Amino acid sequence: MSGKIELNQQYWAILKDKSALAGITLDDKISQEDFRVYGDRLAERQISMFERFGASPLATSTIVDVGCGLGRISLPFSKRFKKVTGIDINRRILDAGEIYCKEASNIEFIENDGKTIPLPDASVEYSYSGGVLQHIKEIDVILGYFREGLRVLKPGGTLNFSIQTWMDDVIVGHNIGKKVTVGNLETVLSEFDCQVLALIVDPRDPVPHMNVIVRRIAMDGARPVKVDQSLLQEQPVRTGIWEDLPSYANFKALWARPPRAVTFWDR
Ligand SMILES: C[S@@+](CC[C@H](N)C(=O)[O-])C[C@H]1O[C@@H](n2cnc3c(N)ncnc32)[C@H](O)[C@@H]1O
Repeated sequence: MSGKIELNQQYWAILKDKSALAGITLDDKISQEDFRVYGDRLAERQISMFERFGASPLATSTIVDVGCGLGRISLPFSKRFKKVTGIDINRRILDAGEIYCKEASNIEFIENDGKTIPLPDASVEYSYSGGVLQHIKEIDVILGYFREGLRVLKPGGTLNFSIQTWMDDVIVGHNIGKKVTVGNLETVLSEFDCQVLALIVDPRDPVPHMNVIVRRIAMDGARPVKVDQSLLQEQPVRTGIWEDLPSYANFKALWARPPRAVTFWDR
C-alpha cells in the first residue's frame, strides 16, 4: 500500500528485518507459548475495562483493534466479541497474524496507511489500540488515531487507547515516539460529543502507560472536554502477567530500571 506514514526508523527496522514476534515484543527470544499466555492475560485486563465501562454487550459487538500486529490481543478478543477487525500498517506482520489467528473465523485483518481506520463512520461498538501509539513519531498521526477511533464508534460506543505517558520527545531505546500531553488529548476529544470515563494507570508499571477510556455520546456535535487527574484510576494492567513466564527474562532486566517520570500532565 502506498502513501503510508513513516515509522520511526528504529522500529521500522525491527518490523522489516526481525521476526514478526520481535515486531510485537521487541524480543526474539520469547517463546510462542509464553507469547500466547501473556497475550491472553493482557487481553483479559482490557476486556475487564470494556466490561466495566462499555455500554453494549461484548458478545453482540464489533471491536476494531488498531495496530493489531499478530493478533496477540485480537485472538482472545475474538472469543468474547462478535467480530474483531484488526488494522495494521505492516503487511508482513498481518500475514503472520493470519496464521497465528487461524483458529478464529471472526477476525478480519486489514492493512492500512498508518493513520486512518478504513471503516465507515459509526460502524463499531468498541475501538481499541494497545502498544501502538508510542511508536508513532508525529503527534498529528497519534491524535488522528484518536479522531479515527471516535469517528468509527457508534453513539454510546467506547474507545480504549493506550499511550505511554513518560515520553519527552527524545530518543530512548526502542521507544522513540512522541510525547502526548493532556492538552493534546483535550484538543482532539473536544472535536466530538464525547466523555472521558477514566484514565487507567498501573501504579507498578515502571514504563508508565495510560489507558484512555472515552464514551462517544452522539454522532454530531462537539463540546469542550476537560481531562484532569480526578479521572485517574489505578488498576494492574501490565504487571502480574509476565513475571512467571520463563522466556520473558529480558522484561525482568528492563523493568528493574528506575521508573520513568510522567510527562503527560505538562501543560
Ligand atoms: C508493539 S506491536 C503491538 C501489537 C498489538 N497491539 C499487540 O498488543 O500485540 C505494535 C504494532 O503496531 C503497528 N503499527 C505501528 N505503527 C502503526 C501505525 N501508524 N498504524 C498502524 N499500525 C501501526 C506495528 O506494525 C505493530 O504490529
